[in-house]
Amino acid sequence: MSPTVLPPRPGPAPRAAYVPDPRDRLAVATSIPFVVIHLAALVPVTPSVSRPVAYAQNNVVNTVRLLEAMRASSVRRIVFSSSATVYGTPQRLPITEDDPVSAQSNPYGATKVAAEAFMAVYHNLHGFDVTVLRYFNPYGPNELCEPETHAVPNMVQAALAGRPIPVYWKGVQIRDFIYVEDLAKAHVAVLPLEGLNYFNVGTGTGVSINEILDAIRGILGRPLRVDDLGERPGDVPAYYASSARLTAATGWKSEVGLVEGLRRTVAYYQARQG
Ligand SMILES: NC(=O)c1ccc[n+]([C@@H]2O[C@H](COP(=O)([O-])OP(=O)(O)OC[C@H]3O[C@@H](n4cnc5c(N)ncnc54)[C@H](O)[C@@H]3O)[C@@H](O)[C@H]2O)c1
Repeated sequence: MSPTVLPPRPGPAPRAAYVPDPRDRLAVATSIPFVVIHLAALVPVTPSVSRPVAYAQNNVVNTVRLLEAMRASSVRRIVFSSSATVYGTPQRLPITEDDPVSAQSNPYGATKVAAEAFMAVYHNLHGFDVTVLRYFNPYGPNELCEPETHAVPNMVQAALAGRPIPVYWKGVQIRDFIYVEDLAKAHVAVLPLEGLNYFNVGTGTGVSINEILDAIRGILGRPLRVDDLGERPGDVPAYYASSARLTAATGWKSEVGLVEGLRRTVAYYQARQG
């Protein structure tokens, strides 16, 4: 379905409200935002394998609670943080939004597919305006996951500490690394959209882990030690996005190139280390 864009509204600008717990129906109802940007989730993939109930409860059931709380108020628009994981192993590259959503190999991915399905239900049944953003590989400053499972912060932190950098598949895996500020801007760009929209948010360029290592090496100006961890079963060898649909609908484009994004990321972790 092609998205339609609302004309600018007269009157006050849309308000944003931070609701720390989406189960709190009163907080959702009384904050009366114009749109909910729903980022909350249990995110690390590996623990989802041993905690499927907790992930389903938090990422799916609590998302439905949020949608119900919105229905009870006047809020009818939501932007939902989904993931490239919904595509599973892609049949072709770049991945477009018309490619099929696939069977998942871990509970985290299944929660994203299920939550997307509920977004569509609330559009079809209750007329919600829904934009699903399928993030590719976000990176940048302020990534503070514990334990850290994402490639870029792990590589940068190991490089800065002089530790060997863990690398699977000899670094040939290809991903689409999207700088966090570009990703954030995509959320702003879609705020005026009506209907039910699905967008990939990536750069459109596949980058190998070895290219990331080369860039970090160049930024630090010294050799890096690599710990070759061999093959990791279950990894998708390559994926990257076409975000042409998002660009056509909103004008959004990723702006921060890989080396500049990594330079800012390295500077952030250097400052944190003191
Ligand atoms: N980081 C990635 O690589 C990536 C990729 C694709 C999609 N996403 C999605 O983007 C969103 C944000 O991810 P992130 O990387 O910033 O992860 P994050 O863990 O830093 O942020 C998620 C936040 O949600 C909060 N949260 C979880 N359940 C909650 C609840 N019931 N009530 C209130 N707060 C709750 C957590 O405390 C945490 O602060 C998530 O929906 C995630 O699935 C992330």
